Amino acid sequence: MELLLTGGMGYIGSHTAVSLTLAGHRVVLYDNLVKSAEVMVERLERITGISPLFVSGDVRDTDHLTDTLRHYAIDAVIHFAGLKVVGESLEIPLEYYANNVQGTISLLQAMREVGTRSLVFSSSANVYGEPRYLPVDEAHPTGVTNPYGRTKLHVEEILFDLARSDPSWRIICLRYFNPVGAHESGLIGETPQGIPNNLMPYIARVASGELAELLVFGDDYPTPDGTGVRDFIHVMDLAEGHASAVAYLTGHSGWQAINLGTGQGYSVLEMVRAFEAASGRPVPYRIAPRRPGDSASCYANPEKALRLLDWSARRSLADMCASTWAFQSGSH
Ligand code: NAD
Ligand code: UFG
Repeated sequence: MELLLTGGMGYIGSHTAVSLTLAGHRVVLYDNLVKSAEVMVERLERITGISPLFVSGDVRDTDHLTDTLRHYAIDAVIHFAGLKVVGESLEIPLEYYANNVQGTISLLQAMREVGTRSLVFSSSANVYGEPRYLPVDEAHPTGVTNPYGRTKLHVEEILFDLARSDPSWRIICLRYFNPVGAHESGLIGETPQGIPNNLMPYIARVASGELAELLVFGDDYPTPDGTGVRDFIHVMDLAEGHASAVAYLTGHSGWQAINLGTGQGYSVLEMVRAFEAASGRPVPYRIAPRRPGDSASCYANPEKALRLLDWSARRSLADMCASTWAFQSGSH
């Protein structure tokens, strides 16, 4: 198939591009490079042996998107483009709504114009808010607590209304849990700008010596060791989930929300120990106060993905840490 990946030059988009290319699809990466760089094209070619098509553009530019969809005769779109930092979304909410919500509306208008009706959307477990029960399944009530999560929920609802209004739309919202890790080549991975907000990239920089110590945000949660528990999922498993979602869409119309997680939670201290084992480096840490807005524990019920997409995560925590370390310690 001919697939357009908005935000395809970013962390999850680039790994998905690898999976899709190796599965025989042609991918077009549409990205404004606000959080990525053009060198990605060359790295993807080194991994897959095929140069992906890159189109420089903003998803809010409906005309440019329309031309791109038409020019490459796109069958389906995977919509990664957006801003994703929870804390930043509290500071600059308008930018988040403009990029994530307005950007999606622009994409949908372009798709409607050219008759492309299949869409996979990057949603987030953030839409569930504080879990009321575990594991979190798709029937769990939504309850966002920050502008970033609200943009994801707004978009999910827009997509729901659209699918209800016209049965020719085929839409899947993939609710990612905590994507981590990198492609086994060590050529692509997560490259947060500045000091990382998320646990895994922070740990990687402590192990490499770039940062002195990890602050563990709270050790008094009602979890086995008192630190936060999350459903960390290898980004290549996540990437393969997109390939399965695209395959599902070819035979099914309507709207679905589907969790992509492993179903297994690991604590912050378990992550530290696993990373030390994978890297052979110490990860010094200090217990600090809880981070406002964090929940104690969050992990997925991944049964719907297995049932509908015939997909489940296969890679281990050791794989997640080893691939992160290979990327972190490579010459990038
Ligand atoms: P990323 O920042 O690495 O990639 C996003 C890409 O989108 C970047 O290449 C950026 O340049 C591009 N982009 C941003 N705004 C754009 C615009 N207006 N027009 C065109 N391109 C634009 O992020 P990621 O981790 O790969 O996340 C991809 C998607 O998955 C995002 O929508 C994010 O909200 C969602 N998500 C990510 C996580 C996570 O922990 N990484 C968790 C849940 C959901
Ligand atoms: N943590 C630390 N120290 C750090 C960073 C994180 O102890 O320096 C802890 C947090 O308190 C939490 C756990 O590590 O207990 C995971 O934190 P992350 O920031 O890595 O991930 P979150 O679960 O808070 O949030 C992430 C994304 C959200 C997304 C959510 C679900 O940042 O955008 O996963 O997909 F919505």
